[in-house]
Amino acid sequence: MDVAEAIRTRRHIKLFKPDPVDMDKVQAWLEAASYAPNHRLNEPWEILVVGEQTRQAINHGPNFGNAPLVLAILSKRAEKQVDRDENLIAVSCFIQNFSLLAHAEGVGVRWTSVGWGDPARQALGVDDSYDVVNILGVGYPAEVPQVRERTPITEKIRQLP
Ligand SMILES: Cc1cc2nc3c(=O)[nH]c(=O)nc-3n(C[C@H](O)[C@H](O)[C@H](O)COP(=O)(O)O)c2cc1C
Repeated sequence: MDVAEAIRTRRHIKLFKPDPVDMDKVQAWLEAASYAPNHRLNEPWEILVVGEQTRQAINHGPNFGNAPLVLAILSKRAEKQVDRDENLIAVSCFIQNFSLLAHAEGVGVRWTSVGWGDPARQALGVDDSYDVVNILGVGYPAEVPQVRERTPITEKIRQLP
């Protein structure tokens, strides 16, 4: 699968099969994902592998689509707002890299924003020095949603003088 195909065919997976994902592969995707662009090479991402007890404490309604693996992706906060924003942007690039690498090997990702709330932050034991950018369900898709087509990109492009 080439990069363009991976980008176009990756979907937000809502439901997973119970089959486990090889953690060596997951670690390899995370390692490759860390070549994401990041300012001053500060590598602001950290990854929490969420165990069963913590997962129950987060108490996510859809239970991450019954994913066999759950990862919380953290971004280092910073004193200056611009630095904090740039960290979040870099971590978003990291997450997309990871999602595409997983997808290219048949593994899907469910993106949940539940980590922005205090209950999930507490369950994860995250202190004030991190944002929880998302909590990912990771696993082999039980179903793949239809692609929702995007606005023609020409409508988003403006030429400046
Ligand atoms: C910043 C961000 C936050 C998101 N939060 C959620 C969420 O809380 N729950 C959810 O089901 N999907 C969430 N999504 C996934 C989107 O719903 C999904 O990407 C969108 O429906 C497009 O589908 P696709 O990724 O399959 O193209 C989030 C995506 C992003 C980038």
